[in-house]
Amino acid sequence: MFRAVIEGTGSCLPEYKLTNDKLEKLVETSDEWITSRTGIGCRRIAGPGEGTSKLSAEAARRAMDMAGVAAEDISMIIVGTITSEMTMPSCACMVQKEIGAVNAYAFDISAACSGFIYGLELADKMIKAEPEKKILVIGAENLSARVNWRDRNTCVLFGDGAGAAVIGADESGRGLLASKLFSDGRLGDLLYMDSAPSMNPYINMDPAEAGDFDPARLGCPLDDEGSYIKMAGREVFKNAVLAMENSVDQVLDEAGVSGRDIDWIIPHQANIRILHNLGERLGVPQEKIFINIHKYGNTSAATVPIAFDEANRGGLLKSGDLILTCAFGGGFTWGAEIIRW
Ligand code: UT7
Repeated sequence: MFRAVIEGTGSCLPEYKLTNDKLEKLVETSDEWITSRTGIGCRRIAGPGEGTSKLSAEAARRAMDMAGVAAEDISMIIVGTITSEMTMPSCACMVQKEIGAVNAYAFDISAACSGFIYGLELADKMIKAEPEKKILVIGAENLSARVNWRDRNTCVLFGDGAGAAVIGADESGRGLLASKLFSDGRLGDLLYMDSAPSMNPYINMDPAEAGDFDPARLGCPLDDEGSYIKMAGREVFKNAVLAMENSVDQVLDEAGVSGRDIDWIIPHQANIRILHNLGERLGVPQEKIFINIHKYGNTSAATVPIAFDEANRGGLLKSGDLILTCAFGGGFTWGAEIIRW
């Protein structure tokens, strides 16, 4: 049986680092609070030339380089994002143009933080039908454009970035072994973001004009009623823990493996406490959970592919390793997947 296998990974992060110390000057918060409640120490903010599609395209180029796949050989581009620069064309079509993937068809999926794992399952279905295809699955966000920089409940959490994977077919037992994806629209009002496109205005500025990051220039609303991310944090936290545990139990069952067989957990990075809970419950030691939330915060759909790329380039993933990935996000959307590396 053919399975989707990751042949190359890439990521691209904006240059600018917004540390907890800098946030202390913007809202009433502290490095101690942010670090102890979330594990986040820094996040990247997109600057000139670092829009969602540009970061995605660079992550895609790096993944294609690693896979040894040319842009003309890509037949499908899927971008998981909730912060495309435009509503139309999609971020995926912008990426197609940027990298010259002239033989691909391209589209976005809006599944919030689960965007990449949703894309991976779609790619697997496509690979089973047409194993000669090469598919780009990308997760990318410009969340800094959609954060209310006066709301300490949310602005400390999110960041910008992109990750990509080139997917091909494998018949040797490697690849996506099992996938369990879910959504529940009834809980949508616990984490949402209404209307309009997402383009942090820095992206179109000359570097000389842009200067240092200043949230006031992102159009921060006076009345806090803009189209910004709104989240009932504690409720989302509880739901995220339960939903991830449930989907992980189901995907382990489907793959016929147990938590103790897992070599790496490469999860969505929303809160370090959620990840430690998950590891403890599965009996997976903390050093086997790949964590980079301290560097980038929550980049929604981008966290999983960025983490895959860093783990991969860091030489942590060995051929044959059993990897569990899982995500939870607005919608709600969530799920878990098992990959034989
Ligand atoms: O990726 C999509 C899915 N998202 C998630 O999975 C995120 C899930 N939620 C969380 O990670 C956590 O709920 C948060 C990190 C968002 C919040 O942590 P918490 O431990 O649930 O805190 P809380 O919301 O219960 O707030 C505790 C206190 C409150 O003060 P009072 O009411 O107890 O006086 C908040 O006002 O902490 C206060 N607070 C802050 N204090 C300093 C909230 N944000 C901040 C802040 N700095 N940035």
